[in-house]
Amino acid sequence: MAAKDAPVRVALLGAGVVGGGVARILNEKRETYARQLGRPLVLTGALVRDAARARGELDSALVTTDPARILDDPSIDIVIEVLGGEQPALDYIRHALIAGKSVVTANKEVMAKHGPGLLALARQHNVDLLFEASVGGGIPIIAPLRRDLLANRIIALSAIINGTTNYILTAMSREGADFAQALSQAQALGYAEANPANDVEGEDARFKLAILASLAFRTPVRPEDIYREGITRLTAKDFRYAAELGYAIKLLALARWQDGGIQARVHPVFIPADAPLAKVDGVLNAVEVEGDLIGRVNFQGPGAGSFPTTSAVIADVLDAAQSIIGGRRELYAAEEAPSRIIPMSDLRTRYYIRLTVADQPGVLAQIAAALGQAQISISSVLQKETHIDAQTAELVIMTHEAREASMQEALATVGKLDAVHEISNFLRVEEQ
Ligand code: NDP
Ligand code: HSE
Repeated sequence: MAAKDAPVRVALLGAGVVGGGVARILNEKRETYARQLGRPLVLTGALVRDAARARGELDSALVTTDPARILDDPSIDIVIEVLGGEQPALDYIRHALIAGKSVVTANKEVMAKHGPGLLALARQHNVDLLFEASVGGGIPIIAPLRRDLLANRIIALSAIINGTTNYILTAMSREGADFAQALSQAQALGYAEANPANDVEGEDARFKLAILASLAFRTPVRPEDIYREGITRLTAKDFRYAAELGYAIKLLALARWQDGGIQARVHPVFIPADAPLAKVDGVLNAVEVEGDLIGRVNFQGPGAGSFPTTSAVIADVLDAAQSIIGGRRELYAAEEAPSRIIPMSDLRTRYYIRLTVADQPGVLAQIAAALGQAQISISSVLQKETHIDAQTAELVIMTHEAREASMQEALATVGKLDAVHEISNFLRVEEQ
């Protein structure tokens, strides 16, 4: 720990999109931060894989490929983990905490899978583990859930928490952009994960929802407790029909406390075009929290990118430094016992179904009968396109609210009808 008037010494694990931004801003704003803390905040090392790569303003003397140079250096007070991925990040975070260093991390995978254990380890060693940048990029959402909303029972979270997919969906809906092209743009802008499948398959949003839901409901919610679907099945037609019906398509992360249990899910949804979350576009993220005292409160801002994320990381670094200088504050809410996880099959919602069918009499009646048998009531049907050569037509069906288990059963029956060539897509509707 730093002596009374000694600088607070920090080191980076990772110097990529986020780490590079942190290094640059720690340098550019060093006088401001020194004034705020009453002591200098000094960057003393940066772990990377490739030491030969040019790294802008990062002094090459600080760069190392040897983790021990940072983790085993007793003069380092705070370690900033911005490597990404589960390993070796998890081992390095554990090592740093056990060595008595505070840790700031942007790593949602590690915090979603191992957060409770790591927080206990930090408490045991009387150091901080802060993770504001792990969800929502630059948006302050972790600190409000850990502190400012503590007087509430949180009832629900509705969120757009993956910048890459929101960027892709916005480009597809506004410009009719091609999926692959929009993904490459998001990668070039530094939004996407090292493995972008984690973004587009909803895994990154699932990690983030696990973190948010665990904090909000004060009980462990693990990634595997959360139902997940990505955005890869969406096509230009779904966006066109959604717009005609008065909806937008968003990848939402949703969690709700109900009947003494928690239901949590990540999947693309139809939401009314005038709902606040429908207007959150591009790399913006938004988290809507519903509490019993506050009602609904919205947090919105840039959800990825070097400087927005740097903003969250450095705020945590300053917080940890203040703890080191002035004595540690306890921010955690007491954990409640694990809650029952309500299965996806119990969800009740409305549905959009797009089908390719034989263009012949009686087909709609067969589909309506299959839905009716499963107690699913149709709210509207549109025949969108007829392909004369193939003798097929495209049907778009919106249903009234139904139980997910019944809908899956009905879809299985509909899919087996001779006249149904394909269930082209199936999306849940989230009336906000
Ligand atoms: P990058 O891929 O840009 O950077 C990763 C850095 O870590 C690189 O400097 C890389 O070294 C280094 N690194 C990775 N693995 C190792 C290893 N095994 N040993 C040593 N060094 C290693 O990632 P980002 O900066 O984009 O992301 C970092 C973290 O921040 C991730 O957890 C991510 O999810 C999170 N995050 C990212 C956001 C964003 O907008 N990019 C937003 C919010 C959170 P080298 O440079 O030599 O390859
Ligand atoms: N890949 C993530 C996203 C980075 O696109 O939101 C921010 O966590």
